[in-house]
Amino acid sequence: MKILVTGGAGFIGSHTVIKLIESGHDVVIVDNLSNANPKVLDRIAQLSGVKPAFAEVDIRDREGLTKVCEQAAADGRGFDACIHFAGLKAVGESVAKPWEYYENNIGGTLTLLDVLRRHGCKNIIFSSSATVYGDPAVIPITEECPKGHCTNPYGQTKSMLEEIMMDMQKADPEWNIVLLRYFNPIGAHPSGLIGEDPNGIPNNLMPYITQVAVGKLAELGVFGDDYDTPDGTGVRDYIHVEDLAEGHVKALQAIESNCGLAVYNLGTGTGYSVLDVVKAFEKATGVAIPYSIKPRRAGDIAACYSDPAKAEAELGWKARYGIEDMCRDAWNWQSNNPDGYGE
Ligand code: NAD
Ligand code: UD1
Repeated sequence: MKILVTGGAGFIGSHTVIKLIESGHDVVIVDNLSNANPKVLDRIAQLSGVKPAFAEVDIRDREGLTKVCEQAAADGRGFDACIHFAGLKAVGESVAKPWEYYENNIGGTLTLLDVLRRHGCKNIIFSSSATVYGDPAVIPITEECPKGHCTNPYGQTKSMLEEIMMDMQKADPEWNIVLLRYFNPIGAHPSGLIGEDPNGIPNNLMPYITQVAVGKLAELGVFGDDYDTPDGTGVRDYIHVEDLAEGHVKALQAIESNCGLAVYNLGTGTGYSVLDVVKAFEKATGVAIPYSIKPRRAGDIAACYSDPAKAEAELGWKARYGIEDMCRDAWNWQSNNPDGYGE
């Protein structure tokens, strides 16, 4: 298939682009580089043997997106599908800058959807998040679990975009829309050549741990040890970014079989506590992670993990990597690139 990948220079997008190329798809990346480094394109080429077409375009730029679609058609074939990663994703920043998050994520996606349909592409895979379940009514979380209250504008954009796309698909059944609800993506390509490169001090657990391990940060703060979980620390469903990337390749099958609207959890189905992750990291890498217990972080929930059975039954997709693989590969990337793509 010929696939438009928005946000394809980012963390999950870059790993997915490699898998798409390896599966024989023709990829065009659109990214405004607001949270990505163009060096990733050379690394993708090095790993996949193909340098994907790239346009530095913002998804809010209707004219720019139109040109990309027209170019694809002029090259012989319009896009068969779009995999839509582009968006702002920092939870704390979204609380401070709600307008920017709604405008970028919702405004950008509305423009993208319109340009796509005007160019005859009504197939899209969307990066949603387990955050749409809020504090989940049941765990493990199935796709039937009711959506919950999102405590921050970032989460709201994911939940609202899901609703918008569901309404569009209802009104025009020619659309095939796959909503992928990611749990907690971590890890990196096993080569150590591409990985997550957060700006400033990381908010998420794994990049914080790897920066402690590499000596950039002194110690990990564990946000709360009084949750109703086996060791009192928060439990999450961490998933290797390589498995997540593979999930997108499999989701193209749903598009090809005219799924209409389809929703899938992408997780492993296993929950690990913060202290489990610290232990797994130490075991996988031999590097000690000093930590201290801090107060709970506002907006956090006790436990969140998936029931991934639907993706396995319908897409034949199942996560293959375990927590120690995730830690090893995250460390391989961080230790080989202490400053991410910066150096
Ligand atoms: P990322 O920031 O690494 O990638 C997003 C990419 O989108 C970046 O390269 C950025 O430059 C680009 N971008 C942002 N706004 C844009 C715009 N207006 N026009 C064009 N490009 C734009 O993030 P990621 O971790 O790879 O996440 C990818 C998607 O998955 C995002 O939509 C994110 O919300 C979603 N998601 C991520 C996680 C996670 O933990 N990483 C969890 C659930 C969902
Ligand atoms: C967070 C976002 C979620 C987003 C996801 C992307 C919040 C409330 N939720 O999820 O919307 O989709 O990132 O991966 O921010 N922890 C520590 N110390 C740290 C960092 C984290 O103890 O320095 C703990 C947290 O309290 C939590 C676990 O580690 O229990 C995972 O945290 P994190 O990686 O930030 O992910 P989530 O909070 O699950």
